[in-house]
Amino acid sequence: ADSFYDECDYLLKAVLIGDSGVGKSNLLSRFARDEFRLDSKPTIGVEFAYRNIKVGDKLIKAHIWDTAGQERFRAITSSYYRGALGALLVFDITRRASFDNLKKWLHELREFGNSDMVIVLVGNKSDLGYSREVGEEEGRIFAEKEGICFMETSALENLNVEEAFLQMITKIH
Ligand code: GTP
Ligand code: MG
Repeated sequence: ADSFYDECDYLLKAVLIGDSGVGKSNLLSRFARDEFRLDSKPTIGVEFAYRNIKVGDKLIKAHIWDTAGQERFRAITSSYYRGALGALLVFDITRRASFDNLKKWLHELREFGNSDMVIVLVGNKSDLGYSREVGEEEGRIFAEKEGICFMETSALENLNVEEAFLQMITKIH
């Protein structure tokens, strides 16, 4: 099993952002520990997880930061983004409002984040197709306009979660 103190070639910081309830914490727990909770509580402040990943012949320690989508639970924004090389910007395909708020999140990213940050747009909860409010095509078009990557995921069914994180991580290097 990997430990935080294992040797690695690169240490990389990335952040998760998006409205409360879109599934940021479950995407991270799925990626880092292969865990999912239907009854997870809203995040308060900042949580972290990391995973060691081999990209080519390099060992990368990805240190992922996860914060609250709810304004009142958020930690100081500038320190959250400081040094981050990548971001997963998450919305919920069954909640139109979380898609409409993407502009606001991108604005914050561009205000506080590094200008060359790798951003991947993630439409989560693809397992709930029957209550979909945002079409896959809409997500794709939005991402294209903003010049970022796009993927639909399901933290519950473990669909594309690894791929979304890996796309961000491999684009950084
Ligand atoms: P904040 O911490 O408040 O910003 O929310 P969050 O974005 O971290 O959301 P969280 O991961 O806590 O998930 C919110 C709810 O959505 C929980 O009940 C999860 O079980 C559920 N959820 C997360 N991902 C999925 C998914 O892929 N499919 C389904 N069906 N439910 C999901
Ligand atoms: Mg959370």
